[in-house]
Amino acid sequence: MTQSLPQLSVGVLGAGTVGAQVIHMLAEKAEDFSARSGAAMSVDAVLVRNLDAPRDTPIDSALLTTDPAQAIDGRDIVVELIGGIEPARTYVLRALNQGISVVTGNKALLAAHGPELYAAADASGADLYYEAAVAGAVPVVYGLRESLAGDRITKVMGIVNGTTNFILDSMASRGLSYKDALAQAQELGFAEADPTADVEGLDAAAKCSILASLAFHSRVGIDDVEVEGITSIAADDMSEAAFFNRTIKLLAIAERRIGEDGREGIGMRVHPALVPNDHPLASVDGAFNAILVEGEAAGRLMFYGQGAGGAPTASAVLSDLVAAAHHRAYGGHAPRESVYAHLPILDPGIARTRYQIRLQVEDRLGVLSDVAGIFARHGVSIQSVHQRDDREPGACVIVATTHLAREADLQAVTRALGVSEAVREVTSAIRVEGEE
Ligand code: HSE
Repeated sequence: MTQSLPQLSVGVLGAGTVGAQVIHMLAEKAEDFSARSGAAMSVDAVLVRNLDAPRDTPIDSALLTTDPAQAIDGRDIVVELIGGIEPARTYVLRALNQGISVVTGNKALLAAHGPELYAAADASGADLYYEAAVAGAVPVVYGLRESLAGDRITKVMGIVNGTTNFILDSMASRGLSYKDALAQAQELGFAEADPTADVEGLDAAAKCSILASLAFHSRVGIDDVEVEGITSIAADDMSEAAFFNRTIKLLAIAERRIGEDGREGIGMRVHPALVPNDHPLASVDGAFNAILVEGEAAGRLMFYGQGAGGAPTASAVLSDLVAAAHHRAYGGHAPRESVYAHLPILDPGIARTRYQIRLQVEDRLGVLSDVAGIFARHGVSIQSVHQRDDREPGACVIVATTHLAREADLQAVTRALGVSEAVREVTSAIRVEGEE
C-alpha cells in the first residue's frame, strides 16, 4: 500500500530518549502513519554527536551520521530534538531556508528565536511545528493555536514543569526537604544532574512565553517573563501550606490585564504559589503537567497529562509529523505566526496578586498592630492573620494572608517587614493563587 503513496524523507537531529522513541514508533506503526498522513515517511538519517554512544532504544547504525548536511539537506521534514539554542538554531534555519518542514521540541529555541524561525518558514513555505516544546504529550499548543482560534483567551495558568512538580509533590506528600526531594528526583531520572533550568523556573518561563504568544496573538519572549524558582521553598512552607489546606505548586501564569495607562497588555510570571487543595491544579501530582485556559466563550478548559519522557514526548512529535507530512504530500501548511494583536508587556509591578507572609516576631504588647500598620501604610489589605507561639522563647509566629494587591506594594510590605524592629525574620513570602 505504501508504494503508491508519496514517499517522504525524514531527517532526525538527536537520538536521545525522545529521538530514539520517534524513530522506533514511526517504524513500528509505519502503516498507520502512512494511512493517517497519506504519505510514506522514512527516517533516512539521524544526526548524533557520537556514533558509538550507548542507546536505550537501538537505532540502525547505517542511519547515524555526525554530518548535519547529510541529516538535513534535501529531506522533506526535519525533526529537531537536540535542544538548546546552538547548534539547533543553525540546523533548524538550514532546513527551513531550504523549504524543509521542521518539527521541533525545543522550547528554549522557540522562546528565544521564535519570530526568526517563523519568518524563515514563511519565506520558504515550510511548516514549523512544535507541539512537543510545551508539556510533552499534552496537546496544548494545538489547543491554543488551532482548537481555540475561535475564542478570546484571557488567561493561561498551569504546571508546565514536571521536574519541579515532582520535587514539590515529594515535599508535600512525604515531608522531604527541598534538597532531599531534588536528590531523589535525580536518582529516579526525573531531574537532570544540573537541574538549574528546571528548579530556577527557566524551563517553565520558556513554555509560558510560547503559550502566551499563542494565546494572545502577540510576540513575547522568555525575557518578558518574571521568574522565580522553587529553591527557597522549605519543608516548613509545605507543612504551613497543609495547615491552611493548601499546597505549593510552581505556576506559569500568562494573562491579559489592563495596564495603568488603561491599555490592555500581557502579564507573564513563573513562581511558586499556594493553591487551595480543592483547586484543579492542586491534585496534579508527580511529574505530570496541567494547564488551565480561560476563554471568553469556552470558559475554563484544562489540559492534563505527561509533560516529559520518551514515549509521551514522541507522541507529540509524531502528531506534528503526520500533519507536516500531509501538507508536504497534498499541499496546505501549518498556521503561521499570529501576532496581529501586538499587545504590550505590562510592568510586573502592577500585577495583582496575593501573598501569604510568615513572620517570626517579638512576643510583646502591640506587635500585631505594628505589623498591621506596615501593611496599611503600603495600601495592602490583610485578609486573615494567624498567630501562634514559636519554638524560640520570646517569639511568636504570625502568618498574614493579604487580599489582592499590586505586586510592587506587596514586595514593599515584605521589605518593610524585614527591617521592622518588631520582626525578627520574614520566614517566607509566597503568592496565593486560585482562590478567587
Ligand atoms: N525538564 C522538563 C520538565 C521537561 O521537567 O518538565 C522538558 O521540557
